[in-house]
Amino acid sequence: MMRKKIVAGNWKMNSTLEEARHLLKAISSSPSNPDVLKIICPPFVYLSEAVSSLSPRPDIKVGAQNCSQHVKGAFTGEISPLMLHACGCEYVILGHSERRVLFMETDLLIQSKLLNALNHALKVIFCYGETLEERERGEAKTVIAAQLTNVLKALTKEQMLHVVLAYEPVWAIGTGLTASPLQAQEMHSFSREIISDLFDASTSNSTSILYGGSCNAGNASQIFACKDVDGGLIGGASLNPDDFNKIINSFRQ
Ligand code: PGA
Repeated sequence: MMRKKIVAGNWKMNSTLEEARHLLKAISSSPSNPDVLKIICPPFVYLSEAVSSLSPRPDIKVGAQNCSQHVKGAFTGEISPLMLHACGCEYVILGHSERRVLFMETDLLIQSKLLNALNHALKVIFCYGETLEERERGEAKTVIAAQLTNVLKALTKEQMLHVVLAYEPVWAIGTGLTASPLQAQEMHSFSREIISDLFDASTSNSTSILYGGSCNAGNASQIFACKDVDGGLIGGASLNPDDFNKIINSFRQ
């Protein structure tokens, strides 16, 4: 089965309204590359605007950077997946290391957000990855196996078809350090084994696994050339439309 090639842009908490409009305009008029699905994940407040400016482009979808584990009610400041879906958002990023570390999100919380998102018709970009200390202790694989298993064990095969994985070594996020193609391939192929054990080989072979962590216009083609890398989750470089476009066109023809 052919896996979807995907490049997702995680704007994080960046861009003024004016900058966001400028970026959306550049993205909506970028040359179409129908072989690659693009997912733009701006801050919540720009989602509706992103949906309307990108809706003429079937090759571009919009995603949120987080959602609540609850559906509705007295949860001040939270955003329900129901609301995201209603405003035309199709994806949500969950399990990002910034949420795990800075907002103390546990595997259990991430799992309940993920189930809530899937139950309300969103697709999920599920992030996982080891810290530098864990890698240096030789525990990188154990750590990601636990993150994947703890969260995804609650899903059915059918639900797993709506999940995109993003391997993001924490030491590479926003640091300028990138996993080498060899390191990325090793971790992606290991992730695929875990998915195969949790579900089956066909589910594993059809799951797109993105690489994230200082992926940019200069290194994307080497990383995307790896057999088990199906694209990238791009932070910093997604704020520059020219760089983002170069990354989208970095897959081997
Ligand atoms: P970065 O971020 O590309 O700026 O390293 C990636 C991410 O956090 O998703």
